[in-house]
Amino acid sequence: MPFRLLVPLGLLCALLPLHYGAPGPDGTAPDPAHYRERVKAMFYHAYDSYLENAFPYDELRPLTCDGHDTWGSFSLTLIDALDTLLILGNVSEFQRVVEVLQDNVDFDIDVNASVFETNIRVVGGLLSAHLLSKRAGVEVEAGWPCSGPLLRMAEEAARKLLPAFQTPTGMPYGTVNLLHGVNPGETPVTCTAGIGTFIVEFATLSSLTGDPVFEDVARVALMRLWESRSDIGLVGNHIDVLTGKWVAQDSGIGAGVDSYFEYLVKGAILLQDKKLMAMFLEYNKAIRNYTRFDDWYLWVQMYKGTVSMPVFQSLEAYWPGLQSLIGDIDNAMRTFLNYYTVWKQFGGLPEFYNIPQGYTVEKREGYPLRPGGETAEPKVSPLHRYQGLMVGSLFLSRLPSSSISREGLVMNVFIILLPQLVFLPFTKNQSCTHSPALAPAQASSVEEARFLFLGKLNSSRKK
Ligand SMILES: *[C@@H]1O[C@H](CO)[C@@H](O)[C@H](O)[C@H]1NC(C)=O
Ligand SMILES: *[C@@H]1O[C@H](CO)[C@@H](O)[C@H](O)[C@H]1NC(C)=O
Ligand SMILES: *[C@@H]1O[C@H](CO)[C@@H](O)[C@H](O)[C@H]1NC(C)=O
Ligand SMILES: *[C@@H]1O[C@H](CO)[C@@H](O)[C@H](O)[C@H]1NC(C)=O
Ligand SMILES: *[C@@H]1O[C@H](CO)[C@@H](O)[C@H](O)[C@H]1NC(C)=O
Repeated sequence: MPFRLLVPLGLLCALLPLHYGAPGPDGTAPDPAHYRERVKAMFYHAYDSYLENAFPYDELRPLTCDGHDTWGSFSLTLIDALDTLLILGNVSEFQRVVEVLQDNVDFDIDVNASVFETNIRVVGGLLSAHLLSKRAGVEVEAGWPCSGPLLRMAEEAARKLLPAFQTPTGMPYGTVNLLHGVNPGETPVTCTAGIGTFIVEFATLSSLTGDPVFEDVARVALMRLWESRSDIGLVGNHIDVLTGKWVAQDSGIGAGVDSYFEYLVKGAILLQDKKLMAMFLEYNKAIRNYTRFDDWYLWVQMYKGTVSMPVFQSLEAYWPGLQSLIGDIDNAMRTFLNYYTVWKQFGGLPEFYNIPQGYTVEKREGYPLRPGGETAEPKVSPLHRYQGLMVGSLFLSRLPSSSISREGLVMNVFIILLPQLVFLPFTKNQSCTHSPALAPAQASSVEEARFLFLGKLNSSRKK
């Protein structure tokens, strides 16, 4: 039962093309069972290798085959794996891991942690797993969803991040020491995404715990970013959180900014908050006016709108998904096809791609094994998942089998990337008395959009 319930929401759905009557990426019909088993095998290869060789460190180093701490000292891969285990229906392993985490993870440690990464991975990972656990068949404690071991851990981790928000602007520092707070002499320069990527987790935490502080700090940071946009409506890449002055003035949708836009939209959906959506739509106008050329998005100077870097970055791959999420199917389609062309040219997305030259940028040829960045990440809408399905099956079909058996490297993608940030917007209204509605995405318009999308895909194929 949990399997059937969860599949439509998660990774596996991206690999069940026949359920949508859709052909595979090359026009062939992929066998869903084949992909399903392949993903499972990849996950367990990565997961078991981590447990055997790297636990309790954060991550597995695939070449030396040992463990090391990366973003803290939290056995991070286990936290990353929690919701994946539920999506794959492995409740017993999930329960074992919850106990291991409770016994082993301590956030009272002298570690300099990234505020952003700790939020999206630790707080977000724990919250998703906490909210997902009941419908996956896990026995939850009385008072759930306002009580539970993973929620308590998420809250503890999030409290460790709060000192970073104590700045004159309310925009957070990028790094905080979990034991001592912000280090003296810490750089006040934070990237835009590092300021605007909290509302989904922090608002959820505030609803579940009844403590408004999390949502409040996230909202203040969002407001200050909004007020800091240029006269032509663009934000830059890095800002000084003490003075509010832009330090890096390149404006684009990729690295350093990306998830800020994503969280405005997802925050708007999760909280049914029109103000957040209005902010995004204003940005979207300026982005389209100044940075879009032939359905590519370039980097421009945030005050003048002049092109500074004509590149596409793999981290920008979330954008068509975001466009489809707001119902902008035409633009989503066109941009997606641009990115898909790059994918086909190289068999993956290079980190930087020079658009006029039609080739990779020197020293940025690498493909950091993100399956199309978030292009393959199944997100809120079926439409978005459909897009994931395309790239997901492409990813799997093109992956050299040697890289699969050789190392856990590729597999980390399956532990970490795919299920994160996916689930919260699906959460139905909860029954906590102090909880405002955690509203689900609007199913009917999304369903409609999916058909539009599939139709356009069909006609673009025929051409
Ligand atoms: C759950 O995961 C554990 C650890 O990888 C594995 O031994 C077990 O077979 C899995 N159970 C199922 C039902 O897949
Ligand atoms: C954290 O950063 C501060 C300031 O850069 C440094 O002095 C300190 O040694 C670091 N602590 C750890 C545990 O790395
Ligand atoms: C679009 O750009 C032009 C200048 O190139 C400017 O005059 C106009 O106001 C901009 N419109 C929006 C919606 O940003
Ligand atoms: C969620 O709560 C809101 C406000 O209380 C209500 O309007 C909406 O119908 C609820 N949605 C569901 C799916 O229960
Ligand atoms: C797309 O094409 C397939 C096969 O030709 C067809 O079954 C499907 O209904 C089409 N979808 C849409 C939305 O037009």
